Amino acid sequence: MGIGVLASGSGTNLAAILEAGLPVTSVIADRPCRALEVAVAAGVPAELVERCSFGLGFDRVAFTQQVVRALAPHRVELVAMAGFGTVLAQPIHDAYPERIVNTHPALLPAFPGWHAVEDALAAGAQVTGCTVHLATLEADAGPILAQQEVPILEGDSPESLHERIKAVERRLYPRTIKVVLAQLREAGQASMAARVDAR
Ligand code: GRF
Repeated sequence: MGIGVLASGSGTNLAAILEAGLPVTSVIADRPCRALEVAVAAGVPAELVERCSFGLGFDRVAFTQQVVRALAPHRVELVAMAGFGTVLAQPIHDAYPERIVNTHPALLPAFPGWHAVEDALAAGAQVTGCTVHLATLEADAGPILAQQEVPILEGDSPESLHERIKAVERRLYPRTIKVVLAQLREAGQASMAARVDAR
């Protein structure tokens, strides 16, 4: 049993999750990206479910169903989105209810969305950060599990600020995943024990 990681980018959060010794059993990407190479180098089964092959109008439900099918053989108990560029539809929440986590490069509820780093800079904020949260159907809106502040420095560009945030994410995300996984396993054992008692 282990973690299914969904990624679209450079995969540095995935690498941090792997370096933390967390049991990643599957990596899925929605586009060709370095995260797939990180998975392959670590010997983790990696699959590309290409977003752009789901039609001009983008069939989000069909895409999500394909992601769920790709995860299915890998005994996934927790899904961790690590820079995944597609908002997923209901089928993944049905398959992994309250078992999907995400990391976001801002202090939610401030600056949700794909341009969180640029938006924080444009707003003239002095502090931003990162948020690890449970993913829900509404993007960047689920219950917050952990947050850490990152100061915005004079002269910061979106790139320099994002790099500083990612350095923090690479510590906070694996640490939080570890706690969530332990809680899930504990809850699983408790419900198993309750079922045995009830017999
Ligand atoms: C992270 O900042 C994550 O919060 C955001 O995308 C970035 C992923 O970076 N959604 P990487 O691909 O893990 O390097």
